[in-house]
Amino acid sequence: MSSRGGWKVTCAWGSACQARAASRCCGHFQQLPCVSHTCEVEQWDSDEPIPDEELERGIAGADGLLCLLSDRVDKRLLDAAGANLKVISTLSVGVDHLALDEIKKRGIRVGYTPDVLTDTTAELAVSLLLTTCRRLPEAIAEVKKLLSSPEAGASHNPLTPCSGGWTTWKPLWMCGYGLTQSTVGIIGLGRIGQAVARRLKPFGVQRFLYTGRQPRPREAEEFQAEFVSVSQLATESDFIVVACSLTPATKELCNKDFFQKMKKTAVFVNISRGDVVNQDDLYQALAGGHIAAAGLDVTTPEPLPTNHPLLTLKNCVILPHIGSATYRTRNIMSLLAANNLLAGLRGEPMPKELKL
Ligand code: NDP
Ligand code: DGY
Repeated sequence: MSSRGGWKVTCAWGSACQARAASRCCGHFQQLPCVSHTCEVEQWDSDEPIPDEELERGIAGADGLLCLLSDRVDKRLLDAAGANLKVISTLSVGVDHLALDEIKKRGIRVGYTPDVLTDTTAELAVSLLLTTCRRLPEAIAEVKKLLSSPEAGASHNPLTPCSGGWTTWKPLWMCGYGLTQSTVGIIGLGRIGQAVARRLKPFGVQRFLYTGRQPRPREAEEFQAEFVSVSQLATESDFIVVACSLTPATKELCNKDFFQKMKKTAVFVNISRGDVVNQDDLYQALAGGHIAAAGLDVTTPEPLPTNHPLLTLKNCVILPHIGSATYRTRNIMSLLAANNLLAGLRGEPMPKELKL
């Protein structure tokens, strides 16, 4: 951990209020200076995760915490922070890493980053869906196959034309599934769920289904989406996009029972959180051909170990949680997170405060 003067620094908010802010974010964001101009910030300046003990030590006595979705803010950390902690500002819309009951009990305010990442994440979800259903990674690998295999590489004369898995144009080779006239099921027709549906509609989707805690007729109208049970969604969809928040109710919502209901030709995409899926059950469904393919931007754990069984499957595309990863969006998120923190420390309304 590097620190400019230590993890916790005291900063005056006028004479009335003393603020100390502990920041867990790496130093790449343009907007962090607006915090450090106002408070003194003790900052973890590596992209690597901060060890728990380091964070516990660093947060002691802090007034604010700027954290990432990979930081588990639980009772233990809150105890380590002590009574000064007034604000937690997370660089994410997902808040499943925060022990919200404990936080609420202690009167701590929470800032998060909804809306500003919706379009970027929906764009990634659609990219992942198309990549998965049209088998793009597999197809790209076939084109390069011989050249990328060490044995072939050693003996291959670059002047001799040769082809790998791509031998000729074959009618059924590398066929996948398309969106035209399909049924798309969305688990969680929230901000991102709607943005995904809005982008998929022009591909010729015939029918949208969605599920959630209750119907959302106002939001569903744009897509004439039908509110159905999880089970009906699993049974009738050609494509399933998981865009819900991770809560106790959604943990492992997509399990053996769910995958068994899905069509053999259906494609499953998750951009929500890894824990919404039982990965062992997903592996069985993919390996056994019970479903066609899966695209995951989120896994459990993250990063997924390179020897994980899911990574052995051709019909599983895995991305390293890059839903909101554009320079523009991440910068806007960091500005919002910084402003949430500052507003919280000043006792002002936050630009985006989570209602606890
Ligand atoms: P919203 O709060 O707008 O949407 C959350 C959705 O979850 C709502 O539609 C809600 O539906 C649904 N939901 C909640 N409980 C249940 C339940 N029990 N069963 C089914 N659905 C449920 O959040 P966003 O759309 O902004 O973000 C959604 C999630 O996406 C985030 O929480 C985060 O985990 C993830 N995310 C991932 C990113 C990535 O990089 N891959 C980027 C950004 C977000 P209802 O209220 O109708 O029940
Ligand atoms: C979030 O915001 O919850 C995403 O997972 C990362 O942007």
